[in-house]
Amino acid sequence: MSDLHSMIDRSRLPSHIAIIMDGNGRWARERGQDRVFGHYEGVVSVREIVDACGELGVQYLTLYAFSAENWNRPKAEVDALMELLVNTIRKEVDDLKKNNVKLHVIGDFASLPQICQQEMTEAMEITSMNTGLNLVLALSYSSRFELLQAARKIAEKVAAGALKPEDITEDDFQAGLDTHGFPDPELMIRTSGENRISNFLLYQLAYAELYFTPVHWPDFRKQNLYDALLDYQRRERRFGKTSEQIQKNIVPNV
Ligand code: FPP
Repeated sequence: MSDLHSMIDRSRLPSHIAIIMDGNGRWARERGQDRVFGHYEGVVSVREIVDACGELGVQYLTLYAFSAENWNRPKAEVDALMELLVNTIRKEVDDLKKNNVKLHVIGDFASLPQICQQEMTEAMEITSMNTGLNLVLALSYSSRFELLQAARKIAEKVAAGALKPEDITEDDFQAGLDTHGFPDPELMIRTSGENRISNFLLYQLAYAELYFTPVHWPDFRKQNLYDALLDYQRRERRFGKTSEQIQKNIVPNV
């Protein structure tokens, strides 16, 4: 096997990678196991990918760990996922601190069980001084809900007379998003063969490179991340410009 790791150009890494970790249930079913077994094995992948991103020097990693729509799953699975999140954070927080990882949570925090809110708040406090990888967990997250909340915040400012509709800027709008202060993801990975965005960071992914792989999340390990990064580095990011402009670094006439 070629050494994928050494082929990665560290000067051209995405500053923010977002991942839809899909396929835990199918991975477990294919092995004749309960779906929850797939989520447990998925945590091993989480650990590996966090480790790999920290080691490479990626600044932000956002993981879609629980969507707002996931509340509709059978209660036993929802309970098992919440317990897994709480236990994993409790178990890993010392290592996160030691490895200079700073934890953040985006999503409808108030809708999470009390114990989950407590554990996450504590882990965010413990890691708040860290300066390495920012690990962002999307929990009870819905991009449409986040956009709606941002629109409400702007509407309140307008209603209070603090802002005129014609003066609203993209920065004003972004200030109301959960991801305020984070760079937009430059690479979005979805595992398990589904080619959808599924209500994940709809605003923030405007210019992201999308990478879809058939590999189920519990099988997605460091080598798979390196594969995705090499694919990303082979692409040309044009942001609406022509290929010639990008290659010659031509600044458009104004
Ligand atoms: C999608 O697979 C996965 C989830 C809904 C949960 C992902 C959560 C984890 C891996 C645990 C995360 C833990 C931490 C600490 C971040 P699926 O169940 O939808 O799979 P399927 O599409 O095959 O049914």
